[in-house]
Amino acid sequence: MEKRRRISLRAVVAAMALMLSLGEAASYDGGSSGLSPGYYSKTCSNLEKIVLREVTKKKNETVVTIPAVLRLFFHDCLVNGCDASVLIASHNNDAEKNSEDDDSLAGDGYDTVNRVKDAVERECPGVVSCADILALAARDVVNLAYGPYWPVELGRRDGLISKASDVKGKLPDPEMHVKELAAIFDKNGLSMRDMVALSGAHTVGFAHCSRFKKRLYNYNSTMRTDPSFNKYYAQQLKVACPPNVGPTIAVNMDPLSPVTFDNKYYNNLVNGLGLFTSDQVLYTDVASKKTVEEFNASQDQFFKAFVDSMIKLGRVDVKTGSAGEIRRDCTAFNH
Ligand code: HEM
Ligand SMILES: *[C@@H]1O[C@H](CO)[C@@H](O)[C@H](O)[C@H]1NC(C)=O
Ligand SMILES: *[C@@H]1O[C@H](CO)[C@@H](O)[C@H](O)[C@H]1NC(C)=O
Ligand SMILES: *[C@@H]1O[C@H](CO)[C@@H](O)[C@H](O)[C@H]1NC(C)=O
Repeated sequence: MEKRRRISLRAVVAAMALMLSLGEAASYDGGSSGLSPGYYSKTCSNLEKIVLREVTKKKNETVVTIPAVLRLFFHDCLVNGCDASVLIASHNNDAEKNSEDDDSLAGDGYDTVNRVKDAVERECPGVVSCADILALAARDVVNLAYGPYWPVELGRRDGLISKASDVKGKLPDPEMHVKELAAIFDKNGLSMRDMVALSGAHTVGFAHCSRFKKRLYNYNSTMRTDPSFNKYYAQQLKVACPPNVGPTIAVNMDPLSPVTFDNKYYNNLVNGLGLFTSDQVLYTDVASKKTVEEFNASQDQFFKAFVDSMIKLGRVDVKTGSAGEIRRDCTAFNH
């Protein structure tokens, strides 16, 4: 009896120490958000297997699934919180996804979530939110691209509002500088470090020429090309994106390893290979430069920070309890 009590006391102390260390690295208990990784363990115990299977299938068909899903999650969370509001289909061209800022979101992101939802509904009807499916799919695409893995907090409910007019001013623009970018992240409870880490998502995916053409041809009245560009990179980009380029032409955002989730994005920044103003200024501005140098030097530090920041991003304005609903179809409200 005496012995058993001593052991259990030691176990409690050990568990507390573990919680403290997890809390420091990344609070996987959901903090005060009301979310937790085990949320569906009783109601849909196969959920994560189903999501991974469907996401892998889709990624095997087209590798752009990776960036498309990751960006979709970011855009969803920054407008009315992580509540799948971005997934609602166009009605009178005034759904969130119809906004000018969202219209370049790749269709493969939406298609991935819809396919996963169909598969999940077959096994656990009416239980799992579209917002949680998107959060899980975002983790899975990062991991499928050889990036980090993390436990995804769950329990979000799907929002009841999706309006194009709600998007204005909420998403960062590629021509923004650090102050403006930081203000947008700060409004969502995300720090400068979170912003630098999350921007590392630009290690995968594409950008249309229109989003950075100004840096190549109309930088300012004295300089045609942004001098923070590496000269050779700017030359290559001018070939890919001539002045009269059509609206559909896009380039890899990470020219070194476009389909691998790694820290090459930061190697690019220190070498003047940042594609957008919003990328390159993270290195030219002293407010964020140190963090860029840290992630340039250590992929491990980048992965740790990215995981922490994705967990924080996943808590932005979430609806829990009786708020919102569990959508049957991710593209439409239930009523
Ligand atoms: C820091 C401010 C950010 C700005 C200004 C920004 C802006 C952009 C722009 C303009 C594009 C190109 C879209 C196109 O031409 O089709 C893009 C692509 C992308 N962004 Fe960001 N972004 C930011 C942060 C983030 C964050 C935090 C994430 C995710 C965690 C993210 C993930 C992506 C991905 C994966 C793509 C590639 C999409 C694809 O290939 O389909 N971005 N971003
Ligand atoms: C996806 O492709 C990989 C590699 O070719 C293969 O091993 C795996 O079984 C495929 N998975 C699915 C779900 O299609
Ligand atoms: C153009 O940009 C360069 C480099 O950033 C700067 O030194 C110069 O003052 C700018 N010119 C004008 C007219 O703003
Ligand atoms: C970036 O990282 C590389 C590789 O670790 C290192 O050699 C280089 O000095 C770093 N550059 C900067 C500017 O910190």
